[in-house]
Amino acid sequence: MGFFDLAYRVGFTPWERAGENFPVELDDYLARTGLAPGRALDMGCGTGDHAIALAARGWRVIGVDYVARAVLRARKKARAAGLQMRFVVGDVVELCEVFEDNGVGMGEPFGLVLDFGCFHGLNDPERRAYARELSCLVEPGSRLLMLAFTPGRRGQLLRGADWERMRGDFAGWELESERRMEAFGGRLAEAAELHWIELVRTGLRATR
Ligand SMILES: C[S@@+](CC[C@H](N)C(=O)[O-])C[C@H]1O[C@@H](n2cnc3c(N)ncnc32)[C@H](O)[C@@H]1O
Repeated sequence: MGFFDLAYRVGFTPWERAGENFPVELDDYLARTGLAPGRALDMGCGTGDHAIALAARGWRVIGVDYVARAVLRARKKARAAGLQMRFVVGDVVELCEVFEDNGVGMGEPFGLVLDFGCFHGLNDPERRAYARELSCLVEPGSRLLMLAFTPGRRGQLLRGADWERMRGDFAGWELESERRMEAFGGRLAEAAELHWIELVRTGLRATR
């Protein structure tokens, strides 16, 4: 059993509390970018809080996570919130196959992609595959909003991420902003190690 399987099973999910401030951050981000609601994707959505916050703002959101237990919880939360949303069990490093297997349409590109704490835990080949899969699902002007630990502090499980180390895999993307997260469930000491990475797609949609 993997780390996240176990974490959801025993209820050790500190990231959920850490994300409580997200609706405020999200409103700020949407206002700054002027993004109009459209199709959105939440990579490693966990139990769905961020995807749900986005759906409540009019976006058509699909959440993906490889832990079935988390996805079941996300579906339950969305139903309770009265939102029609899609949550899919699958690995983000083979996303197109996951979508095909689950009948998720890939014709319409995603205008906004969220990643809160998923990418920064992947190894190098997984990062390359993640970027490759994503580039087939976005179009020029699409955005990626990522929350990641800064690199080099937490060993192999949470390697962290920053644009300097990502850019080689993210051809066709440009950095809009990289800035420290100011609040983290009120625990400012930990906030120092988390940062927002905001990217915009400049390249054409890739073909598979
Ligand atoms: C730190 S948690 C954050 C969950 C959620 N984004 C949140 O903020 O509440 C990271 C999530 O990414 C998921 N994850 C990690 N690697 C993944 C992969 N390769 N494919 C799909 N999900 C993955 C984990 O199962 C976990 O739910």
